[in-house]
Amino acid sequence: MARLDLKAGALLSPVPPTLVTCGTAEHPNVLTVAWTGIVCTRPPMTYISVRPTRHSHALIRETGSFVINLPTSEMARIVDLCGMKTGAKDDKLALCKLKTAPAKTVEAPILTACPVSLECRVTEEKDLGSHTMFLAEITNVSVDERCLDPRGRLDLKKAGLLAYVHGEYLTLGKKCGDFGFSVRKKRSRKPRKDKR
Ligand SMILES: Cc1cc2nc3c(=O)[nH]c(=O)nc-3n(C[C@H](O)[C@H](O)[C@H](O)COP(=O)(O)O)c2cc1C
Repeated sequence: MARLDLKAGALLSPVPPTLVTCGTAEHPNVLTVAWTGIVCTRPPMTYISVRPTRHSHALIRETGSFVINLPTSEMARIVDLCGMKTGAKDDKLALCKLKTAPAKTVEAPILTACPVSLECRVTEEKDLGSHTMFLAEITNVSVDERCLDPRGRLDLKKAGLLAYVHGEYLTLGKKCGDFGFSVRKKRSRKPRKDKR
């Protein structure tokens, strides 16, 4: 099948359209950020790339912290709105009826409507061009207990997380594998002895 070369661009899909909270518990702001990812496991590290023109840019610098909140697909309209309006003019948290709670390790608060919140402390800032990359250590992860299975393990399938694919908000689909399943030995099919 023929392939085309597109103009070089920031095309990576899917990405998480996150709700990033910044500022303080008393004066918080929220903006939508899709340019984010994990860059290290130990220590757990992430980044967000934010244009210097965003109201949040200065707030993140002031406290050296932010929280990456992962929204559900039911929150798509809120995610879009927080990416259209600026905290310089509107109180987006009030507008979207978003409740906050104090984070454990950083000044910026968490959003209680989001099933997962990553508390982040900025370690480095890099001007890349259009965006500033805030590199940060993840200092705490808070999850809604409804995302836990009966044995207390994290089961994010339950969360109904939102995805962003080239300008469109999508729900996640069906499971088609899990980490290492391609090389995992199959369990023997011998019938188990009935222990009754
Ligand atoms: C889906 C989506 C993803 C976005 N991703 C980013 C991003 O990664 N970085 C950024 O600087 N702005 C991003 N924006 C734009 C900001 O969220 C938007 O300019 C917002 O109004 C800034 O809010 P603030 O001025 O209160 O900080 C995104 C917007 C949308 C709708």
